[in-house]
Amino acid sequence: MVKFAAIIPSVLTLVVSVTTALSIDYYDETCPNVDEVVGKAVKSAMSNDVTVPAALLRMHFHDCFIKGCDGSILLNSTKTNKAEKDGPPNISLHAFYVIDRAKEALESLCPGVVSCADILALAARDSVALEGRHGTCPREEKMEECQWPMTPLLSHSRSLTSRS
Ligand SMILES: *[C@@H]1O[C@H](CO)[C@@H](O)[C@H](O)[C@H]1NC(C)=O
Ligand SMILES: *[C@@H]1O[C@H](CO)[C@@H](O)[C@H](O)[C@H]1NC(C)=O
Repeated sequence: MVKFAAIIPSVLTLVVSVTTALSIDYYDETCPNVDEVVGKAVKSAMSNDVTVPAALLRMHFHDCFIKGCDGSILLNSTKTNKAEKDGPPNISLHAFYVIDRAKEALESLCPGVVSCADILALAARDSVALEGRHGTCPREEKMEECQWPMTPLLSHSRSLTSRS
């Protein structure tokens, strides 16, 4: 019982520290427009290049791969150090300019506050959300009856069968 009682506070501390480390309103006080700025950068890039959302999601995945989502995928090569983005599995990554533009806009609003790793995570989130809206789904239609671009073929044919 004594041992158990001793464990509870440490578990609580862990839960508390995890919730403070990952918080959806983390920038509410320090940079309240962060969502809007990143969303705008993604949206405007998407309107010129439909591959941008997939590129940003893939970039975020590559950034998180192996050593955590630290923004290291964004670093450029130097004379003496080849950057991750220039390595063979990462060479086809693109749309870095979207992150650069969002960073530039955020630096003028709230200098030195929002990390590039967070911008990339937000951009990947917005890409998924915005890309979903390319599906043909009238507002009033039920989710399961919509034709989403990512819907597996099997459920597409099921949904077509149920309409005929
Ligand atoms: C990498 O280089 C590009 C092109 O020169 C530049 O626009 C971008 O800001 C650089 N990124 C970093 C993280 O230094
Ligand atoms: C490609 O990116 C991943 C994840 O950022 C990194 O771990 C890996 O080392 C990179 N590959 C090369 C060859 O740099």
